[in-house]
Amino acid sequence: MYSEKVMEHFTNPRNVGEIPNADGVGTEGNPVCGDVMKIFIKVQDDRIVDAKFKTFGCGAAIAVSSMVTEMIKGKTIDEALQISKEAVADALGGLPAQKQHCSNLGADALHKAIEDYRQKQVK
Ligand code: FES
Repeated sequence: MYSEKVMEHFTNPRNVGEIPNADGVGTEGNPVCGDVMKIFIKVQDDRIVDAKFKTFGCGAAIAVSSMVTEMIKGKTIDEALQISKEAVADALGGLPAQKQHCSNLGADALHKAIEDYRQKQVK
């Protein structure tokens, strides 16, 4: 069973869409279920000022994307990097055991978006 929080974020997801000219983009997929999550971040002075997502996936993956993008807004890059898979699942009031991998997708896509941002800074 899903928690109320998961259902709420699934039926009313925040931050759906893309950020044109995003400072970082991270895509993560799960080859087993075929779901794919893409997270876009806009960064100013090392702080995430906006975040959006596009997810082709299950209800839990949609709720996770919505929660992750809410959690990172206003955070510094270092703070956002600390967000773990467990933290995302906890913020959603927990996920059923067979849906844990959906929260992994969120944290992994976020970390890839940050990696992408950092690589762009080096150039
Ligand atoms: Fe694969 Fe949820 S079933 S992300």
